[in-house]
Amino acid sequence: MTLWGSRFTQSLDSRAWTLNASLPVDRRMALQDVEGSRAWADALHRAGILSDEEHASISLGLDTIRKEFASGEFIFQPSDEDIHTAVERRLNELIGSAAGKLHTGRSRNDQVATDFRLWMLQTIPELDAAVANLQSALVERAEEAGETLMPGYTHLQRAQPVPLAHWWLSHYWSLQRDRARLKDLTVRVSVLPLGSGALAGTPFNIDRLALAESLGFAQVSQNSMDAVSDRDFAAEYLFCAAMLGIHLSKLAEQVVLYTSAEFGFFELSDAFSTGSSLMPQKKNADVFELTRGKAGTLLGLLTGLLATLKGLPSAYDKDLQEDKAPVFQATDTLLAILPVIAEALRTLTSKPERMRAAIDSTMMATDLADYLVRKGVPFREAHAIAGKAVRLAEEKQVKLEELPLEAYQALGGALPKEHRDNVSESKGPFEADVYEVFDPLRSVERRNAIGGASLQSVKNQIQNIKGV
Ligand code: ARG
Repeated sequence: MTLWGSRFTQSLDSRAWTLNASLPVDRRMALQDVEGSRAWADALHRAGILSDEEHASISLGLDTIRKEFASGEFIFQPSDEDIHTAVERRLNELIGSAAGKLHTGRSRNDQVATDFRLWMLQTIPELDAAVANLQSALVERAEEAGETLMPGYTHLQRAQPVPLAHWWLSHYWSLQRDRARLKDLTVRVSVLPLGSGALAGTPFNIDRLALAESLGFAQVSQNSMDAVSDRDFAAEYLFCAAMLGIHLSKLAEQVVLYTSAEFGFFELSDAFSTGSSLMPQKKNADVFELTRGKAGTLLGLLTGLLATLKGLPSAYDKDLQEDKAPVFQATDTLLAILPVIAEALRTLTSKPERMRAAIDSTMMATDLADYLVRKGVPFREAHAIAGKAVRLAEEKQVKLEELPLEAYQALGGALPKEHRDNVSESKGPFEADVYEVFDPLRSVERRNAIGGASLQSVKNQIQNIKGV
């Protein structure tokens, strides 16, 4: 039985029926469909469309259906085109003809948009909690990292030393933005379409504000044509999911790199690594690679929906039925990844000595330039001198701290005349204290402005995160 067959003389081709049906996807909104229907029955009752008995009977029937869904006892029939049809069909079985009054003044167009929004409003907190759990793992790791230093990279080239804690927390903040985005999105999801009818509104005396309140929506839609076709919230949700996926892929990529023998900064726990069917020595970071890979899938889900929405004429078009599968898939993907990544990070073993060994003194070349700046040399000149020092050390195949003071002073002597006035000593800016710049901890500690890498700044960062 379809909800719409009476004007047809021929039944729908069975293949077309299968193509048209959306139950395999939208049955996931069963509880939301019942919830929306209950609120709609209440609104019809308040509007005088349903008698007290009809209302009581519909409510009771819907309660039974909810219980059947909750316990898994609900039996779908092959004729159920979508979740809305299934609920109405079952209601009819349970209470008889009064069930036929429930759809008064309502269309599946405003119904499906309502169910979908309800589902999303209930799912966002679940997603948020999973991201928050990953953030907690990052903060735990940052706290236990103490004063461990690691090389910080730009262009994947050794750049400047940073505390390991600073690196962990860098991922905290991107996730924080993802959570803020989801929260902000909630404002646009929490707009009730129900009461928009098929496209032109409902002709009955429905108090939409009361309806919104009973379903927990913050606002009601202001244009019925827009309300039945607006899927911005689904696209935005997929953007949030894709952005989150991209953040996770960035973190994952680094774990893959850092657990390689070449880096050796971390070791994966056995519980979160996989072996090779061929090479007995292998310990692979599959869960992180999958995270990186699934970010691509998430991006595809977003672009897929946007392409579906592009160029659609006003109000409902069946194309819109394509909206739910990507949203559900993105949700399932993230809810599968997030807890695994959190635990995998919690159980990662750090190798502070490997990290420390990867910090070489050329990473303090900027500190060398800053040293000259503190002695009055303009930064551009200082940068050039420090660059020459790096080249000289490279030529002599020694480390920067192994160049003798005279070598530095010879470089400094090349300062242009106009800068010499700023320089305290006649020998130039370099003095014996220059060797202090090659201490990575000092380098880190000098970066003590808000948000910087100094140990104190990182402590403050953690305190801000924890709100203490
Ligand atoms: N299954 C449909 C969907 O998910 C419900 C709305 C159907 N509306 C219609 N006019 N056929 O979009």
